[in-house]
Amino acid sequence: MSDTRREFIAAIDQGTTSSRCIVFDRDGRIVSVGQKEHRQIFPEPGWVEHDAAEIWANVQEVVSEALRKAEITREDVRALGITNQRETTLLWDRTTGEPVHNAIVWQDTRTDALCKELARNVGQDRFRRETGLPLASYFAGPKIRWLLDNVEGLRERAEAGEILFGTMDSWVVWNLTGGPDGGVHVTDVTNASRTLLMNLRTLDWDRRICDSMGVPAAMLPEIRSSAEVYGEARGELAGVPVASALGDQQAALFGQTCFAPGEAKSTYGTGTFLLLNTGTEAVNSYNGLLTTVGYRIGGQDPVYALEGSIAVTGSLVQWMRDQMGLINSAAEIETLASSVEDNGGAYFVPAFSGLFAPYWRSDARGVIAGLTRYVTKAHLARAVLEATAWQTREIVDAMEKDSGVELTALKVDGGMTSNNLLMQYISDVLDAPVVRPMVAETTCLGAAYAAGLAVGFWPDTDALRANWRRAAEWTPRMEQDVREREYKNWLKAVERTMGWIE
Ligand code: G3P
Repeated sequence: MSDTRREFIAAIDQGTTSSRCIVFDRDGRIVSVGQKEHRQIFPEPGWVEHDAAEIWANVQEVVSEALRKAEITREDVRALGITNQRETTLLWDRTTGEPVHNAIVWQDTRTDALCKELARNVGQDRFRRETGLPLASYFAGPKIRWLLDNVEGLRERAEAGEILFGTMDSWVVWNLTGGPDGGVHVTDVTNASRTLLMNLRTLDWDRRICDSMGVPAAMLPEIRSSAEVYGEARGELAGVPVASALGDQQAALFGQTCFAPGEAKSTYGTGTFLLLNTGTEAVNSYNGLLTTVGYRIGGQDPVYALEGSIAVTGSLVQWMRDQMGLINSAAEIETLASSVEDNGGAYFVPAFSGLFAPYWRSDARGVIAGLTRYVTKAHLARAVLEATAWQTREIVDAMEKDSGVELTALKVDGGMTSNNLLMQYISDVLDAPVVRPMVAETTCLGAAYAAGLAVGFWPDTDALRANWRRAAEWTPRMEQDVREREYKNWLKAVERTMGWIE
């Protein structure tokens, strides 16, 4: 038997702005990190694409970097897990493995008109009922349809089985497990649950929905669980089992060890995604949330989640820095906001790409409300941070209504959690404790945990829970009447964003 002290799990996170590989030890501690950014391609306003060949080259580089930094080789890696930006859509040639077009990124809005047409012809309700999702340009299905309609000859080739579809998990697993002739063509339930094509109850492609979307079954990957061996890697990790795949937000739920119904996490990045474990029942949302698969370990029952997706949080801070020039670094927002007592009456609703949950209004645009001569850039900085907190509050309210479960504490992670003022304000507006774990890289950690479970590196989810350690906690300090007044003002400002685009 090999020496267990020298065994590790590696996880690849193929994200929106970069690809990373992190090596973890048995205690779930980070041993090394490799990371590389890729290009963001904007061919037209509202369009966002990625070069999938560049991404695959970067993935190979970051794996090498992480192994080198950890001073280990493939013999020391027990399993490899994959996590990824969700919904981003790629089609490639089954024979050559070449992408037929750039990947269309989740933020891309080119399928807006197509979604409206589908809503008229097929109906919003049907998609929601079967897939748990509203018809929106965010998801993968309409992006596949757009490619089939717009790249010449593609539909015929797809129907003949020559073209394959995948989200970035599929693309990475296909390349990892195959030579030039290609590898296994699979996806996991969490990624499949973001396509608008998977039936949430059967966990299989819904033939009638696929027909309505105009997507041939021949191009779809096999849907597998989130934690099982899909195949063996080739190349630098030759022989290592590829043993997990989860969309990044579901991976963060797993990495935060939210294994019991009622446990929730919120990841604060460029956008924010709050997921609540609802157990083995898929809970329908009547309050603007998504019903999604949280994870499925091997042949066990799937665990579902309610998700509140917020499009703009950290990217609002970037906007203040890059477009407005009001701060020099993202970290400076906290210093500036802390120089005043409150928002001076100003409220900032960053509906830059419409509003996601709980509204799903593509006709909304950003507003700053409540301005007087009294307001300074410090008050605006405060309003920027408060916007993230109030958007979180709206999601939590919707979740409590949908699930009937009251949030007792919120586990947080992601880049913005280093902002103490913001974390305190979130705790204040939720009137609940906010806690951050020791390992903030919960996305990669979740993929590593799932892969480790699949190969028996960790025995069960209890062993993973034992690794979770609290690094920081914020508890509510705000008076109830202040909370109520501020929430009312926020909601008034939100109303003013609606109907801006005809
Ligand atoms: O649904 C989109 C989400 O998966 C994107 O995550 O962290 O790659 O921006 P991220």
